[in-house]
Amino acid sequence: MSEDIIINTSLSKAEKYVELIPQLKSLVDGEDNAVANIANIMAALKYTMNFFWVGVYWVDDKELVLGPFQGPVACTRIAYGKGVCGTAWQKSETIIVDDVDAFPGHIACSSASKSEIVVPIFYQQKVIGVLDVDSDQLSTFDNDDAEALQHVCDILSSVHSGNIK
Ligand code: SME
Repeated sequence: MSEDIIINTSLSKAEKYVELIPQLKSLVDGEDNAVANIANIMAALKYTMNFFWVGVYWVDDKELVLGPFQGPVACTRIAYGKGVCGTAWQKSETIIVDDVDAFPGHIACSSASKSEIVVPIFYQQKVIGVLDVDSDQLSTFDNDDAEALQHVCDILSSVHSGNIK
């Protein structure tokens, strides 16, 4: 594994993602423990992209259950179709929320959270979890985040399913 994530802080958000994603792959290279790898990916995302909260929820029967994350403590379980996370799972699609107060059924784990993006994690065409990122500012996330975080979800899927060793 690489020991450090090095991102030029003067880059745009999209450029930072371009530098970050190959480094996430190096970060998990040679380690086969999924929790260790995913925990490190969450730390790399939080501290390079300056996210307020970032974490994964994994599908566990009819609910999502909290996995590795960085940020304030969060809800442990979310039902299918509930909140932004459960809705992204139900619809099998990325959801960008500019103002969480305007999303019906949004689950507020932290009152400081103002906007959010949730990206499904697929394995063999099925949703196995979601990547959730929260911001303490309104309207933080856009298509650049959606595209880049889909690549991150592909890495998370490989790590979770044991296809990265
Ligand atoms: N806001 C999410 C719940 C998870 S927390 O943001 C960490 C939702 O509505 O599903």
